[in-house]
Amino acid sequence: MNEKQAQILRLKQEKNAVIMAHYYVEDDIQEIADYVGDSYYLSEMATKVTEQTIVLCGVSFMGESAKLLNPEKKVLLPEPEADCPMAHMATVQRIEEIRDIYKDNVAVVCYVNSTAELKAHSDVCVTSSNALKVVKALPNPVIYFIPDEHLGTYISRQVPEKKFIFNDGGCPIHTMITKEDVQSALDKHPGAKVLVHPECREEVTALADYIGSTSGIIDYATASQAQEFIIVTELGVMYELKRRNPGKAFYPTAAYQICEDMKKVTLDKIISVLEQDREGLQMEADFMDKAHAPLKRMLELSR
Ligand code: 13P
Ligand code: SF4
Repeated sequence: MNEKQAQILRLKQEKNAVIMAHYYVEDDIQEIADYVGDSYYLSEMATKVTEQTIVLCGVSFMGESAKLLNPEKKVLLPEPEADCPMAHMATVQRIEEIRDIYKDNVAVVCYVNSTAELKAHSDVCVTSSNALKVVKALPNPVIYFIPDEHLGTYISRQVPEKKFIFNDGGCPIHTMITKEDVQSALDKHPGAKVLVHPECREEVTALADYIGSTSGIIDYATASQAQEFIIVTELGVMYELKRRNPGKAFYPTAAYQICEDMKKVTLDKIISVLEQDREGLQMEADFMDKAHAPLKRMLELSR
């Protein structure tokens, strides 16, 4: 453990804080975090921790979700500028237009990678690990899936009984990965299993042996008898993959699989946010109630 990591551990004791991190942040943060996981795990854990302060190491929608699920807790973001571009790729105006057309038949299903504003206008949230279960459990025959058209398309294929309306949005990192990028990795490692995040394009998920969330990918590789894997998501997952599977080999594709926003969070920024110990994320009470409702419904429907 280095000096900065040790300082964080001292500070978090002093401030009664818990460190939560997504699998895409830097290794040295995952190493000292109390909880590391996918978006669903982080949302669920945020409702269970007893510490008064949550330091959320990830992009801003993750901090907002933690705050919405725990209004009475202090939620600190080490780098508030770390933002998921896809979180902004839908509009309230379009949601209202769709509601006008389809009335009660439509459910607006909002991937958690979205702003609190979009959540406040949605019926239910989903993550990549529970989207299928949640969408199937909804009574509505029409689903307006925002903001990610790729996750929406992937889910729609498994729920043919519902009509899906898609939105023109997607993760810049996952959508940049092409089938040629995966194929060139497969050419080098022909026996490897291909593990893909559902934010990828359909031409890429079509090559997968397994499709799932970051946690799903890590669990699949850990349980598998296979020894080699091509990892088709952001490369932060490599830390946990290698930690849990020291004997197995993990290869990236030929694409650039780095989320620069996730990498903006650093040990120095965690130290600074703990030392300053400001009031943390704040939102209007009425707005929080609206944005909290779809997250709460997600947790209920995915249990
Ligand atoms: P997971 O919920 O699978 O961790 O995904 C979060 C994310 O941002 C993927 O790009
Ligand atoms: Fe957003 Fe993509 Fe980064 Fe995930 S990897 S946080 S979806 S930009």
